[in-house]
Amino acid sequence: MIKTADRSTEGMTDYNANSRAQKLNAIANSEVIADLAVRVQDMDGPLNFTDYGCGPGQSAIETVRPALNVWRSASSSKQISVCHADQPGNDWNALMALVFGDDGYMSDTSKPLVQTAIGSFYDRMMPDQSVSIATCFFASHWLSSSVQLYAPDTIWFADLTGEARKKMWQLAERDWIRFLKLRARELQSGGYLFVSALGAIPEAGEINDIAAAGRGCYRALQEVTVSMVEDGLLKREAADNFVFGLWFLTEAEASHGIENDTELKELYEIDTIKVVAVDDGGDLFGDHLTDPQEYGRLNAGYTRAFAGTTLRRQLFEPSSNTEWTSDQLEAEFFRRFEALYAEKPSKYAVEQWHLHAILRRK
Ligand SMILES: C[S@@+](CC[C@H](N)C(=O)[O-])C[C@H]1O[C@@H](n2cnc3c(N)ncnc32)[C@H](O)[C@@H]1O
Repeated sequence: MIKTADRSTEGMTDYNANSRAQKLNAIANSEVIADLAVRVQDMDGPLNFTDYGCGPGQSAIETVRPALNVWRSASSSKQISVCHADQPGNDWNALMALVFGDDGYMSDTSKPLVQTAIGSFYDRMMPDQSVSIATCFFASHWLSSSVQLYAPDTIWFADLTGEARKKMWQLAERDWIRFLKLRARELQSGGYLFVSALGAIPEAGEINDIAAAGRGCYRALQEVTVSMVEDGLLKREAADNFVFGLWFLTEAEASHGIENDTELKELYEIDTIKVVAVDDGGDLFGDHLTDPQEYGRLNAGYTRAFAGTTLRRQLFEPSSNTEWTSDQLEAEFFRRFEALYAEKPSKYAVEQWHLHAILRRK
């Protein structure tokens, strides 16, 4: 049975220091964002850029900056605002320090209004028809709630098979459609939604014939989970029922959700839906393969930043006792994870495929 609980990612830790992939993704998309900014700049009314699932890091600045540069240089007296939207547990102080810091966009002479919207992007976050460009980068692959599903062989959606996979897909598809419908109410007519998330591609011979981004990393997480269950440090029941609340869409899954929903078909025109391989040689930290310790440290830091909170809530806290606190379990988990990467460099390489969906609100 699937049981859903609270938010899947609230309160990620040490984000800015460990978000290489996210920063590169924001920078790689800067021309696309600038182009969208040009397309909407002559629409009626004020211009608003809302970044959903903004996170606390520099990538949130890099995501909005290209649009601000375009809008500021357009000879227009329009009011410009930026809204950073995320969950209550986001590190808002860290984000605002960056926004107002030397590398932030508030150090420029022409300043936008800065707003925050706090809540879940699976609920309404902005007023009706108020958003000109909506982005959601590296965030919408998190489902609306954490998932408890009996899956003793894996902690990762892409390795689920049969009935368990079917149930997880029902949740994922429902969330994707819900996310798009909510944004449609918030976007101005003619505005754009740009989703960039982890994706998946067909690959014959893979489990379910689909290769999903980060497969090595999740299989390393599974290996460490198994080793800690075998050593009596994690409760088997907690591990058997734990699956990350994630789904990385293929092109077909992303399009199908829109094309088969009569309401969505009326609301959006599809500009782009594609899954691209990210050009990092198939290993996010491949530049460090000659230094296994550093390779282990970087992979562990990156993974802990996005997975630590979820693991804590769903594995470490339920397994803690007087001998092992959840802090100690987390430290031991990532010590093993780092050692695994250092021992077997490249075996669990972080490969990336990104889904890009650009939709125009009719
Ligand atoms: C990996 S971070 C990405 C942050 C940033 N967009 C970037 O590209 O670096 C994912 C962010 O999505 C946020 N997030 C996840 N689920 C969310 C939800 N349901 N509503 C709002 N934000 C959410 C998390 O809080 C986190 O800040």
